[in-house]
Amino acid sequence: MDVLIPAERIHARVGELAAEIARAYDGKPVTVVGILTGCLIFTADLIRRIDLPLRVAFVTASSYRGETTVAGKLEIRDELLPDIAGRHILLLDDILDTGKTLTRVVAHLIDRGAASVKVGVLLRKIGRQEVPFEPDYVGFTIPDKFVIGYGLDFNDEYRHLPFIGVLPSGD
Ligand code: IMP
Ligand code: MG
Repeated sequence: MDVLIPAERIHARVGELAAEIARAYDGKPVTVVGILTGCLIFTADLIRRIDLPLRVAFVTASSYRGETTVAGKLEIRDELLPDIAGRHILLLDDILDTGKTLTRVVAHLIDRGAASVKVGVLLRKIGRQEVPFEPDYVGFTIPDKFVIGYGLDFNDEYRHLPFIGVLPSGD
């Protein structure tokens, strides 16, 4: 498997993002909301390095781009989300691809009464975005390749890998 971003580079970049976030919020409490499951490792690593009063919560967002349902349909579930009315939210996801997931989840959180929503992604894939969306914090921009590891999966496998890798295309 090709390693696109080694663990040490991720570790260093996550530290930079955490410092940038702490500076931006300037002591204000933040509620970090991760989009499961891809956010798992990024969220766990990032929050431990953010020096702010902080709460953490999760939502799920599943898209059904496959064979069975209408392309682009997205189901957001927020049963695990506490009351976020008036809270400053930092929404985290593993990767910004088409931008549809984050656009929808941001709208959902504003709908729930969030005072502000900023967005952080570990990865931003170049050349894939279908809706205009600008994240506030980006770890790395990457080429249009399917990547796995550090939370990202292929068929729910590989999330536990400590690096970002590219699966061999099989040909
Ligand atoms: P978007 O709505 O198209 O931006 O989709 C973002 C979601 O697609 C991410 O949260 C990932 O779950 C998934 N995704 C997009 N690209 C990749 C990839 O290269 N590897 C693994 N998952 C990906
Ligand atoms: Mg995901």
